[in-house]
Amino acid sequence: MQFVLKEWSADLAPSLAETADDLRIAKWLRDVFPHPYVREDADAFIAFASAENARGEWYRAIVAEGRAVGGVAVTRGQDVAKRSGELGYWLAPAYWGKGVMTEAVGRLCAQVFAESDLVRIFAEPFADNAASCRVLEKCGFSLEGTLRKSVWKSGAFHDARLYALIKE
Ligand SMILES: CC(C)(COP(=O)(O)OP(=O)(O)OC[C@H]1O[C@@H](n2cnc3c(N)ncnc32)[C@H](O)[C@@H]1OP(=O)(O)O)[C@@H](O)C(=O)NCCC(=O)NCCS
Repeated sequence: MQFVLKEWSADLAPSLAETADDLRIAKWLRDVFPHPYVREDADAFIAFASAENARGEWYRAIVAEGRAVGGVAVTRGQDVAKRSGELGYWLAPAYWGKGVMTEAVGRLCAQVFAESDLVRIFAEPFADNAASCRVLEKCGFSLEGTLRKSVWKSGAFHDARLYALIKE
């Protein structure tokens, strides 16, 4: 499937509000990702992401046929973690299983390593998120451990997994 990674811009707000409003996405993400997801959430996120991109962070929209169908981001850590970045991502279910996120994560990680001083990119998927764990493995991330009961989501504890990709 053809797509581009683009910095978030205001014209993507209507399609973002439409595609992100899906519990099949929100159930696997931190509570900061709203459900339901309304137009005001899309406007607020795009304003936030644009400001963060202006300071050198990597919040990118996955755009297909002119519409936002997902998002992928790497955010730099602070203090002694400042040369380490956290990866997060989501995709509209209509596009699942076509290799889109494997391609998007691969492209963004390559860009981050090429243009910054980050040497580590990590992600913390819920342990039972098999599709997300598989994406990371296909992109060359190594499993570093299990973060037991680190997540309280939807009224229950969940384990998370810690995966990382190291710039050699
Ligand atoms: C996780 C997510 C981004 C994957 O996107 P995608 O574009 O479908 O991923 P890809 O097609 O690149 O790869 C998915 C892989 O997972 C596999 N997979 C999917 N569902 C699976 C399941 N239930 N069990 C095992 N493997 C599964 C696919 O077969 C594929 O592997 P393969 O190429 O070896 O066959 C998407 O499902 C999503 O947005 N989920 C909701 C939000 C989310 O979980 N975000 C990540 C939070 S850490």
